[in-house]
Formats: sequence, structure tokens, C-alpha cells
Amino acid sequence: MESLAREKIKKAVVTAKTIEELEKIRIKYLGRKGIVTQAFKEIKSLPSEERIQEGKKLNQIKNLIQTLIAKKDKEIKLRNRNLKNEWLDVTAPGLKPQQGHLHLITQTIREIAKIFQKIGFNRVRYPEIEWDWYAFEGLNMPPNHPARDNWETFFIQDLENKKYGKGILTPHTSSGQLREMEKKQLPIRMLNIAKCYRRQSDISHAPMFYQFEGLLIDKDINVSHLKGTLDFFSKQYFGPKRETRIRPFHFRFTEPSFEVDVTCVICNGRGCSVCKEGWLELGGAGMVHPKVLANGGIDPQKYSGFAWGWGVERLFMMKYKIPDIRLLFSGDLDFLKQF
Ligand code: FA5
Repeated sequence: MESLAREKIKKAVVTAKTIEELEKIRIKYLGRKGIVTQAFKEIKSLPSEERIQEGKKLNQIKNLIQTLIAKKDKEIKLRNRNLKNEWLDVTAPGLKPQQGHLHLITQTIREIAKIFQKIGFNRVRYPEIEWDWYAFEGLNMPPNHPARDNWETFFIQDLENKKYGKGILTPHTSSGQLREMEKKQLPIRMLNIAKCYRRQSDISHAPMFYQFEGLLIDKDINVSHLKGTLDFFSKQYFGPKRETRIRPFHFRFTEPSFEVDVTCVICNGRGCSVCKEGWLELGGAGMVHPKVLANGGIDPQKYSGFAWGWGVERLFMMKYKIPDIRLLFSGDLDFLKQF
């Protein structure tokens, strides 16, 4: 039937622009006097075989028209709703995509390196899996030293070198001292920032943490150079009001040895519940022991030097009053986003 050509119906529905137009099309075909409704009436008089065939065709057309109209109806209503009810403020600020940043420890490492670069310390890198000689024996630490037992240090199973001893995960950055001396490029101004591993875990100790180790070796170096260098660093990192002090301590690889304190960042050195007397401990330091210089192939009669080794995480914790070192390794975005 020409008037029921599918393409014609499709075109009429697809090009309809309003709900009213669509309703007219529906009435034209499916209304009480519509073309399809009439056609159903007409086939009643046909012989039964033919009637069944024609009936099937008409039902298909009826379904097609209903589906097309329902689809178009939805489309028109959606468009009308958008136009009439929805209002878009094109001047409103958009949604910023989330942007990450370097981890706090990486940021701190870069900051430390930048400060020491200003006074000529070059960053170096040495193995994370180290021999006993570089970490202990060569640094004048005797075999019975507590750091050399299984409860403090991670030894690597079945890794041993005849000359240098057992293989270990670097327990402190001081192992870089001998490696730097072995390069035989004097004077030395080394900054070794690296991962360290110890069997420790609580609010101020992590089994893996970072240290930054400084080593300066030259002629006529004394304690005042050490004090001046560390003072410079503290003022640059914590602010101009900071001061450092050195207290006698004991390390096997420095003589004399010190612990270094900085004026408390919380109370500005007046004394508070965190620091008690106005000072916070930063880490160890000292004048390089003559035996260590000799082990590194440097004549202690001609050269002297100083070294320090501090924790990167502890430094950050002190500056921003972080109560638990584990927060720095937790990957907690709420915490990390604050910095
Ligand atoms: C040492 O490791 C010496 N090698 C430091 C040194 C170097 C002294 C050169 C003299 C000359 P100590 O074990 O105290 O020292 O560690 C130094 C710093 O590393 C500590 O003050 C602390 O800031 C950090 N640290 C040590 N153990 C941990 C740990 N488990 N987790 C986080 N930080 C730590």
C-alpha cells in the first residue's frame, strides 16, 4: 500500500519538530480513522489465508510507527527541557582536574640538595646493597658492635665477599664516606642522600627511611667549619631564627663526635612540652676519625674533615610538627594534600 510505505512514515516521524506534529502523525496512521486502523478493518473481508498475511504486515507497520514515535517523543521532550528549564552559566569557574605533586620526602630531598649545593656539596649515589666493610668494619665499628647483629641490620642471605665481608641493606649513609674517599679526588664535598634499612618500627622509626650524609675533607678543617655548615643549613631549611648547638656524643667513625640540636621550631627556643629546653635533636656529626681516613686511602697527617648524618623524614617532621613517621609512608591522600 503506497500510503503505508515504511520510508515515507520514517521520514515524516524523523522530521517532526514538535510534540503536536508527532501527535498529528500518530492520529493519521493509528487514530480511530487512521490509515493503519482502516487497513485492519478492510482486510477482514479477505479470504483467511490472505487475511493472515496482510494482518502480519499491518502489525509490523503498527509496531514500527509506535517505536518511531516513542523515540522521537523522547528526543523532542529532552530538547525542550534543555532549552526551557536548564540554564548554563558560562562564566562560572570550571572543575579543576586533580593535580598531584611530588611526595613530601622527594620534595624534602630536593630542598636539602639545593641548600647544600649553594656551598659546594655535590650529590652522590652509592649502592643500596652494601658490603660490611663500607658500612661497619672500615668505619671502625668492631665485630661486636650492636649495629652489626641480626637484630639491628638486614643481612642478605648467602651474599658474602672474601675481602669486604657480608652483604647487607645499607644501614646508614656513612657507608658512602669510604666509597667517596676511594675516588681519590680531594678535596671532598659530598652529599649522599639515600635509603637506609634497619630493623626498627615505631612512631619515630621506620624500617626503611632516608638519611642525608655530608662529608667534607680538605686541609686544616676544624669543628668550627662543621658548626658553620650546619648552622647555615638550619637557617636555610627552618628559617633565619634557627640556631644549632653541638653536644658531645660517641660514634666509632668520628672523633670528636657530636649530636646536633636545633632551636625548637614550635616555641622558637623558649622551651615547650615537645622540646623541654628549647632544643630539638637533629642527628649525629663529628670530625672524621683518622682510622677511617686511612681506610679510605687518605693521609690523616695531611688531611682532616667532618661528617654528619641526619634523617630526612625527621627533618620534615620537625619543620611541620608531624607526630608519627608512618604518616609519611601511608599514602593517605588527606594527609599528603596538606603540603
Ligand atoms: C647514624 O646513622 C650515623 N651514621 C650518623 C653520623 C654520620 C654520625 C656521620 C657522625 C658522622 P644514627 O643512628 O643516630 O646515626 O642516625 C642518624 C639519624 O637518622 C637519626 O638522628 C634519625 O634522624 C635518623 N634515623 C635513624 N634511624 C631511623 C629510623 N629507623 N627511622 C627514621 N629515621 C631514623
